[in-house]
Amino acid sequence: MRTFETRGPVTPEKNYVVRRQAELADFICRVKEGRYIVIFAPRQTGKTTFFRAALQTLAVEEPTYFPIELNFQVYKNVAPNAFYGRVYRKIRQEIEGVFHQRGQTLSDTLNQFLRNGSMHDHLSLLDFFEQLAGFLAPQRVVLIIDEFDGMPATAVSDFLYALRDIYHSKATTPCPYSIGIVGVKNITQLNYDRSISPFNVQDEFALPNFTLEQVQELLGQYTDEVGQTFDPDVIALLHRQTGGQPFLVNRLAQMLTEDMDIPKAETIAMPHFAAAHRQLLEERNVNITHLTTNIRRDPRFQRRLMQITSYDESVSFNLDDDILSELATYGVIAKGTDGMCEIANPIYLYRILQTFQPLINGLEEEYYSQDTGSGYRDYLTPAGQIRMAGLLDN
Ligand SMILES: Nc1ncnc2c1ncn2[C@@H]1O[C@H](COP(=O)(O)OP(=O)(O)O)[C@@H](O)[C@H]1O
Ligand SMILES: [Mg+2]
Repeated sequence: MRTFETRGPVTPEKNYVVRRQAELADFICRVKEGRYIVIFAPRQTGKTTFFRAALQTLAVEEPTYFPIELNFQVYKNVAPNAFYGRVYRKIRQEIEGVFHQRGQTLSDTLNQFLRNGSMHDHLSLLDFFEQLAGFLAPQRVVLIIDEFDGMPATAVSDFLYALRDIYHSKATTPCPYSIGIVGVKNITQLNYDRSISPFNVQDEFALPNFTLEQVQELLGQYTDEVGQTFDPDVIALLHRQTGGQPFLVNRLAQMLTEDMDIPKAETIAMPHFAAAHRQLLEERNVNITHLTTNIRRDPRFQRRLMQITSYDESVSFNLDDDILSELATYGVIAKGTDGMCEIANPIYLYRILQTFQPLINGLEEEYYSQDTGSGYRDYLTPAGQIRMAGLLDN
């Protein structure tokens, strides 16, 4: 039996997975055009899952592409020299891994090239890829760099210069042919001179949260496999309470299908959801820990967040405002239909109010008791209970 997973990337062999077909097709199309692509979104929104699915689809459809996947997460404070040395070893392992996976062996010359080579700066990186192209032709290298924001700050600028050089090279098949960088920050937030970037703003992918249809698709996979159904109201409320945030959706689904031991013959109904929801409002999990850590990062966040949650004030969603931009980057706020800032989902709203509770005193009650028509504040009470009556009437 497959499971709902919350600890990292998900795969359809082991987990229930939203396919994101339209976005995948778009991404693959850009790879084939040799574009340099940016995928950015807050933590735990499915970035790694997404590009891995894309590489897998590409491998099946078009074996002429040669994927290399890197991860820069642990390099933040590393000197450039050590960074390039490590990247080189990783690239070598990746290449060997792809050959192995395909049941092929490396030619002696390629093996020697990889064993004897080295990389210590962006120029040796250029030399390396230039030569690698000769070994792998006619295959096209697709390089994906996950956690790109973890790159040492001192190396970013030269690294991007090198990629730009490849992008503008006259070679018929540049190597890498297409590059994807994946991270929490979008390209404009990385601290470097933008004019050197080969990544165009129009090739930025902001991976969205799940729509109601996608949550239905996800839970439907479980129902098809196990036979246990969800009350449609539960699915609608689960979507609304999580705002479709992929981790939160999976966490609730995990509680409802595993942790709570609801007999499989029973429909998963509103009282079950209320219990799971109550637990989510209280438990510590990695997603909520990120949220509470992020909102405490800068004392100015609190004031802004209190303005956003207040009934008397509203804050226009303006990403030129550094504080708002940072809160949006962390996935704490989103743009409402009226162009104003909104807390990303009701669960975060509750946890934000809890975090700053000593300072807002009894105000919290007021937040919950007023019906703004915005869709959620009215069915949460300060104690985190759901008022079952009128739950779905907006
Ligand atoms: N396509 C998907 N279908 C279902 N759940 C997903 C999907 N993508 C992400 N998730 C959920 O989000 C969590 C984090 O996914 P991951 O790909 O590691 O995100 P990121 O790389 O953005 O941190 C997963 O453990 C899962 O709960
Ligand atoms: Mg990831």
